[in-house]
Amino acid sequence: MDAQNKQDWMTIRRDNTSSALERAYAEGLTGLTVASRKGKRITLKEGGTFTEFVSCSYLGLETHPSLIEAAHQALGTTGLHLSSSRSAMRPVYLPQLESLLSEIYNGCGISVFTSTSSVHLGVLPLLGSNSLKSYPIRKRVHWLMDKTAHASMQVLRGILQQFGEVSRVQSTDPESISSVLGICAERQETPILLIDGIGSMSGLVPIAQLCSRLEQAGGYVYVDDAHGISITGRHGAGYALAAVDNQLPRNMVIAGSLSKAFGGAGGFVVVSDPQDVPLIQTLANPLVFGHSIMVPMLAANVAAAKIHLSNEIDILQNHLWHNVRLFDSLTHNRLLNAGVQSPVRGAFFETEGDGLKACRILRANGILMFPVFYPIIAKGKAMLRFAFSAAHTENDIQQLADSLSEVAHAGLWKTHMAPA
Ligand SMILES: Cc1ncc(COP(=O)(O)O)c(C=O)c1O
Repeated sequence: MDAQNKQDWMTIRRDNTSSALERAYAEGLTGLTVASRKGKRITLKEGGTFTEFVSCSYLGLETHPSLIEAAHQALGTTGLHLSSSRSAMRPVYLPQLESLLSEIYNGCGISVFTSTSSVHLGVLPLLGSNSLKSYPIRKRVHWLMDKTAHASMQVLRGILQQFGEVSRVQSTDPESISSVLGICAERQETPILLIDGIGSMSGLVPIAQLCSRLEQAGGYVYVDDAHGISITGRHGAGYALAAVDNQLPRNMVIAGSLSKAFGGAGGFVVVSDPQDVPLIQTLANPLVFGHSIMVPMLAANVAAAKIHLSNEIDILQNHLWHNVRLFDSLTHNRLLNAGVQSPVRGAFFETEGDGLKACRILRANGILMFPVFYPIIAKGKAMLRFAFSAAHTENDIQQLADSLSEVAHAGLWKTHMAPA
């Protein structure tokens, strides 16, 4: 079908979206406007204080006194913003942050961006065009886009196709990968697998196996580990690096986030050879034609990086995993992702209506979470997504588990089933 007759992805998404999200907004079950907060307790603009399981700041670093103090000081010395691209002028905190991140990642090359989406937009075209010396491409690139890869990569399909074919694969199925790798070998194309480390909704992918499988095929693995950064690994380097024994394989690239568990704001790329960094900083589109991170947030990122290089990160990680294990045990491993090294759990509902009813029960019990519907999960279904933090207390976890029992007793949540 040609482009004129084929429906574009946004039209398909719009036409398939039901009114469930609208109803959730109207009833104040999501789309929350926070007037103030203290740890995991948020007070909403329209009133009421709730315990939230929404935030992806899994270690609670965003309210850490060192980060707050660093942001205040930076405001005093430099103001809110140096409104220019990094190549023209940058706050002193930017090179400091990159140097600390390089320490966290054992001397690998680091470049900081304003977001993880900007990392994808900046780095993938450089990979695809054979611009990065440590990731050479044979004739042409062939992108293997995992089905569960984050939407911020999926949406770039049209851009990626300017460099090579895009095939959708399921990286937990070796057959699915092998068949595309066979095509790449025949055509002398270099495969690049795009995957999430810890998925924002789903579980984990076998990073180490995929890395060696792609290495045998002369290809690369590009991991979006936005949710895995800080919560695990030495110095909080994340799930992807821990999966390969803390040593970045030469055929792997990590895209990380500074806006989730890291406690600040922005994104960064980790490449095996620091010699590729000057080229990234000279050519990556969002770096050349965009701003750098706002000054107070950059300073807070520097403070957070220092915490990552101290013992404090281990203590915070231990709190988080203690809370997650407690929740799994109180809910008898009935939720999606139970037992998996992810800070996210999901309660799956057969209908959007049941999901909304469950949300109302939880809200009445003082608990807020993130209800998700199509296009995040399959059409007509609902999932309540719970994000855990080191900042939750055991009491918070118990309260959530009790409320979920109430949902089960109401006959809404019958099984432990994965979304399609
Ligand atoms: C896995 C993953 N990648 C990328 C992003 C996009 O992050 P950013 O807002 O920094 O672009 C998100 C956002 O939540 C995410 O969950």
